[in-house]
Amino acid sequence: MNTYVVTGAASGIGAATTALLREQDHRVITVDLRDADVLADLSTPEGRDSAVAGVRDVADVVHGLVPCAGIAGLTGVDSALVVSVNFFGAVALVRGLQPQLAAADGASVVLLASNSITGMPGWDSSVAAHCLRDDEPAARAAAAAVDSVMVYPASKAALAWWARREVVKPEWIGAGIRLNSVAPGLVTTPMTEKLRADPVFGQFADSYPSAVGRPGRPEEIAATICFLLSDAAAFVVGSVVYVDGGTDAILHPISPEGWDVAPLDL
Ligand code: NAI
Repeated sequence: MNTYVVTGAASGIGAATTALLREQDHRVITVDLRDADVLADLSTPEGRDSAVAGVRDVADVVHGLVPCAGIAGLTGVDSALVVSVNFFGAVALVRGLQPQLAAADGASVVLLASNSITGMPGWDSSVAAHCLRDDEPAARAAAAAVDSVMVYPASKAALAWWARREVVKPEWIGAGIRLNSVAPGLVTTPMTEKLRADPVFGQFADSYPSAVGRPGRPEEIAATICFLLSDAAAFVVGSVVYVDGGTDAILHPISPEGWDVAPLDL
């Protein structure tokens, strides 16, 4: 039995991941705004600190972490909040629990990216650059200048790129900690129900092509996450695994490659 931490575990993909890990007889410590073992608001530095402290209080060793908590960029959603929850709320947990992950003698972190990284053209790469510089005030300021729908892919690209940049360092793979990301396509969850209900963006919910002809199910993302958490994925390091029913394959048959995204100024 391993010990895993899942944030955003009260709903959607986080809930499905928690359920699958528990079915496999693992211990899962859940973190969320509600209905979780550790209640914390990951949008603020204080909330992130209290989440890390809450986990440390009950676990000295953590075999895997899935920072799943996230919010979509929709009408009326604060752009700065998107970057604070999606990027900084995830990375703070990974960093904060590094000692507990290192203590596992072989641990795995799976970040939630998104196929919007390559699916949505023209998103704001300056937001991602500020994230990768670890400058939350600058990232929030850059985000506030653009619509939240354009901030979402930036926050998700930054997560995937952060994992790839960091994982090769001594404190991560050198300490036996693998960092990878999954990039889901449209998955039916409360988040995408909000997208469908959005007065502006709802009409685009099903506009991406899908090779399988349907949205994904949270269990299908959870299955990939659990594989990446497991020892069977011991050689998977710094990867971005697309789980999107073929959307990215249709849009970018010659890939991976960026699309219409300005180079980062780092
Ligand atoms: P969801 O809305 O069903 O669940 C998100 C969870 O995060 C909720 O339980 C919510 O309470 C929690 N959360 C939100 N803000 C928080 C905060 N400040 N502090 C602590 N917890 C907070 O969303 P879903 O669809 O399950 O998404 C999970 C992750 O997967 C997100 O990071 C999302 O961006 C990502 N994703 C989802 C896709 C989809 O189509 N559903 C596609 C690509 C990525």
